Amino acid sequence: MKKKNIRLFKPTIGKSELSSIKRVFKRSWIGYGTEVKKFEDEWKKYFKVKHAVAVNSCTAALHTSLAVNNFKKNKKVLVPAITFSATAASVLYCGLKPVFVDINPYDLNISFEDLKNKYSKDCVALMLVHFGGQPCEMEKIMPWAKKKKLVVIEDCAETCGGYYKNKKLGTWGDYGCFSFEEKKIMTTGDGGMICTNNSKKLKLIKSFSFHGWNRDPYLRHKKSMKIEKKSNHWDYDVETLGYKYNMNDLTACIGREQLKKIKWLNNSRIRLIKVYLKYIKNLKHIKTSFEYRLARSSYWMMTIRCKKREKLINFLKSNQISTSVHLKPLPKLKVYKKFNSKIPNAEKIWLQLITLPLFPDLEKEKVKFISKKLIQFDENYEKF
Ligand SMILES: Cc1ncc(COP(=O)(O)O)c(C=O)c1O
Repeated sequence: MKKKNIRLFKPTIGKSELSSIKRVFKRSWIGYGTEVKKFEDEWKKYFKVKHAVAVNSCTAALHTSLAVNNFKKNKKVLVPAITFSATAASVLYCGLKPVFVDINPYDLNISFEDLKNKYSKDCVALMLVHFGGQPCEMEKIMPWAKKKKLVVIEDCAETCGGYYKNKKLGTWGDYGCFSFEEKKIMTTGDGGMICTNNSKKLKLIKSFSFHGWNRDPYLRHKKSMKIEKKSNHWDYDVETLGYKYNMNDLTACIGREQLKKIKWLNNSRIRLIKVYLKYIKNLKHIKTSFEYRLARSSYWMMTIRCKKREKLINFLKSNQISTSVHLKPLPKLKVYKKFNSKIPNAEKIWLQLITLPLFPDLEKEKVKFISKKLIQFDENYEKF
């Protein structure tokens, strides 16, 4: 019998998510409503932030967070050279220009040194990505960014609930943007969250993510049976152009259940990373891509480096082990070529990156099996 492939990522969803979906079905209200409000309230409480707005993706969260600042067209935004394209797409959506900053070889995150080099007076914002869940050096970057009056957007698509220096990731910058896409730390299928302590921007965030309306669509509905002298519960204005980015109740009810499990989701990944690390630490030709600092962490990826990347990927494929490469530097993609800049670390390092299977339900035995295959490759490196 053919052995089953080992998946790269898999969402952890089950009975509690199903019963919450049943609850929402029973109410027959699956659009924007009370579940979204409750999810936002629970998020605020967990992250200890003043405001949380649920949206339908992290891409929407990034776009909204940048757009509500109304920067002048063609101003510049600093973006790490290695990140998912959505981080930079949000810059282009706003008519701004991405400036690609090189990465550190030791954590694959934005280099503070290169950030200072690439900064110019035209820069208005900084996108910080905690790559694979590895925290950026926030204590260095934040005071510098504030001095330069940069708006800081933390792209937390690849982390959720992790800390850096006793402060939750997503609460260091002006805006924290999260992803609930199916592969991520917690999932709703697709979805996202913006959190911020900036009360002045809240109205704009809500309006931008719902067609530009000047009234909350759910509160408007709640007034629909209230008899008033001037019966205008239905009325709204579109004051600025907005997008259809809101979350719905069907998605939010799954998110509420996942948020309850966030510690467990993170700890399950930590437990498996420990197994990988035990086996990988003594290998000669295969190294982890960065040093995993597991205490209070929220790592999404198990990432390794190997100079014979394609050979190793094929060897793992022949053993039914899925892999991927996260990620190609953005200036290598067609749309971003014209924004190319000097990024020597990113250019060199990405050629060696491989992502290994990691998800909470992955059996420890499977991680041992994958690790043993890595050892086999390492011991026979010259033959490959
Ligand atoms: C760093 C980063 N930013 C943004 C996104 C986009 O997230 P979403 O699919 O929720 O829009 C991703 C998703 O892979 C990501 O890895």
